[in-house]
Amino acid sequence: MLLDRTGRVARDLRVSLTDRCNLRCAYCLPAEGTAWLPAPTLLTDAEVGRLVRVAVTRLGVTGVRFTGGEPLLRPGLVDIVAAAAALTPRPRLSLTTNALGLAARAADLRAAGLDRVNVSLDTLDPDRFAALTRRRRLDDTLAGLAAAAAAGLAPVKINSVLLRGVNEDEAPALLRFALDHGYHLRFIEQMPLDAGHTWRRAQMVTADEILDRLRAHVPLVPDPAARGAAPAERWQVPGYRDAAGAPATVGVIGSVTRPFCAACDRTRLTADGQVRSCLFARTETDLRGPLRAGADDEALAAAWRAAMWPKAPGHGIDDAGFAPPDRPMSAIGG
Ligand code: GTP
Ligand code: 5AD
Ligand code: SF4
Repeated sequence: MLLDRTGRVARDLRVSLTDRCNLRCAYCLPAEGTAWLPAPTLLTDAEVGRLVRVAVTRLGVTGVRFTGGEPLLRPGLVDIVAAAAALTPRPRLSLTTNALGLAARAADLRAAGLDRVNVSLDTLDPDRFAALTRRRRLDDTLAGLAAAAAAGLAPVKINSVLLRGVNEDEAPALLRFALDHGYHLRFIEQMPLDAGHTWRRAQMVTADEILDRLRAHVPLVPDPAARGAAPAERWQVPGYRDAAGAPATVGVIGSVTRPFCAACDRTRLTADGQVRSCLFARTETDLRGPLRAGADDEALAAAWRAAMWPKAPGHGIDDAGFAPPDRPMSAIGG
């Protein structure tokens, strides 16, 4: 079990498969990209498989989410998913992606055992998409979304980050789009995780603001489903159903103004084999070194447990002297 000193248990593993991305979202990466991780430091497919196995069979992890950068850029993604799906007990398997190229791979991923996808989509306007992500590829993302739903990677969720003066007015349009297509939607408060350290709290579009904007268009009823460790507070939109016939929901991930750290059940593995107890952790624990030096499963499990024990009670964004993590979100895993 991955227990920390405050009593939380991590059962949700997020594995970053690459720090690279084919978009350059303004809140994440600079136009020129960053210094990517050197190839020899990246875990191989077999090394990822080994660490996922240790997490699932020795540490009580029940769900694995593959992230990036952009995880679809990882050539071995389908094989990595298949290896995880072959474990006993079988973990729930999901992917957080910008969906570029997903149209061509959704069916293979589903066949390999992937259960769900969360797709990042911040705007439905092609010009805004090009300005925000610095790539003109809205159609690819929309095709990926549709393919995910068609392949049964359900329920499909959309993640939208609203930025002041850029797409903050688009919340109702994004909700309309999600309701019309049977996707679930979550709006995310922007966090201080961009490579350029340009985040300013005063610029952030807050959960309250997002909810006010939505309520001006549709009635929202609190979702009676238990929230558990989910980052999103959810509302149902009366009269709407998702693609499977369940009530449609819209959520807000208020990481900054409504932190959910007290219920956090996450542990993270970076593409270069470091365990992070939190997105905002100041320290990492190297598993790649011991792995390559021949450590056995129990030694790896012990190192992982030790990495999680000191996990901070909260992200500390509001604390005096807060400093964002050294690595941007693209290198930590979303
Ligand atoms: P499901 O609820 O299982 O669908 O997934 P998820 O919402 O945990 O995963 P996803 O990758 O879609 O994450 C959505 C957003 O939640 C991310 O973009 C982050 O903004 C936020 N988030 C994810 N993990 C954390 C975390 O550990 N701490 C905080 N504060 N925010 C997180
Ligand atoms: N704040 C909030 N969400 C972010 N994401 C990337 N960077 C940030 C940030 N600074 C989101 C992406 C994607 C998910 C992995 O994280 O939009 O949906
Ligand atoms: Fe790529 Fe995701 Fe960062 Fe956008 S937020 S640049 S899609 S890693």
